[in-house]
Amino acid sequence: MGSVISQKVEDHTIPEEFMGSSEDLFNLVALALKNIVEREDGKDEKRALGFTFSFPVRQNSVSSGSLIRWTKGFSVGDTVGKDVAQCLNDALAMCGLNVRVTALVNDTVGTLALGHYYDEDTVAAVIIGAGTNACYIERTDAIIKCQGLLTNSGGMVVNMEWGNFWSSHLPRTSYDISLDDETQNRNDQGFEKMISGIYLGEIVRLVLHRIAEESDVFGDAADSLSTPFILSTPFLAAIREDDSPDLSEVRRILQEHLKIPSAPLKTRRLVVKICDIVTRRAARLSAAGIVGILKKLGRDGSSGPASSSGRTRDQPKKTVVAIEGSLYQDYPVFREYLDEALAEILGEEVAQTVTLRVTEDGSGSGAALLAAVNSSNRQRQQGGSI
Ligand code: BGC
Repeated sequence: MGSVISQKVEDHTIPEEFMGSSEDLFNLVALALKNIVEREDGKDEKRALGFTFSFPVRQNSVSSGSLIRWTKGFSVGDTVGKDVAQCLNDALAMCGLNVRVTALVNDTVGTLALGHYYDEDTVAAVIIGAGTNACYIERTDAIIKCQGLLTNSGGMVVNMEWGNFWSSHLPRTSYDISLDDETQNRNDQGFEKMISGIYLGEIVRLVLHRIAEESDVFGDAADSLSTPFILSTPFLAAIREDDSPDLSEVRRILQEHLKIPSAPLKTRRLVVKICDIVTRRAARLSAAGIVGILKKLGRDGSSGPASSSGRTRDQPKKTVVAIEGSLYQDYPVFREYLDEALAEILGEEVAQTVTLRVTEDGSGSGAALLAAVNSSNRQRQQGGSI
């Protein structure tokens, strides 16, 4: 097997006006790709493209799948039900690019692919960023939906779409209900709405707004606090991580972003506490989700076979979970709480066998890897050279 020899990352924001139709959206992506290809050598060379698409897809083959629904506040109406790989291929052809999608991959799956490429003990991948999700490697015979389906390895990656997990055991507050009411995908993605980056700041904003309405703690700031999504999660993180004695960063954020001009230290401390609670809950729920996967895989220490004496267990296997996403990578307190909860649920001994490994841009590179593997497999099947 070769290795990843070069990796370049470019970030592009999708302007609002390109979110009107799927054609606009995919044309924008194709144009961005065209710019990249034109800057490289070999413009006309046929290329295989790995397409990371971080939304729920009904996968029809390695390189095709239709969008089930948008999440994370995205909404480009006419895309639901369409084969998103086909949409991108059409746009690429329109641009005159000799590039075709050979792997359509969820971001968790890309992250797992890259994680597994570097370390075969990687059995699952988790994304905790703007949205959240996880995938893991399951035995094919354990997947009821896929009875009779053969894979070379006997295993298959399951994209859990855990963001849409819901259970009556999940304690839901009135703030979670208000948040859900504000979103375009009401009643969907309940777990994601308690955990991920686009929602945490808003939960805090809802709590502060309620305090402002029911007390005079924030003076007459109830109005400014009534604007949905004015407190983004990076601000929540900055508030929680302000370790200055007078909480000067908290004061600045309250003044500049929430129009609360003169909150005394006691009030600033209250705001920090609220950010802490919301962060800790999200991190602990994420940890519980990861333990759920480890349990399913028999790697949580509870199902290890007892030795003949019946007293000791076999050495637990080393387990690696690839992890990616801005909330986990850029917010140390979140990470700390997640690690702490993992150790608490698994016990120190088992927790030491589990490594959460950050893969930088793994979802993109992993998709490229899968595209390369898939197109070389196809060529092999067709008897061509690799
Ligand atoms: C999407 C998943 C994705 C996750 C992380 C969720 O909103 O449904 O497909 O993996 O966000 O990006």
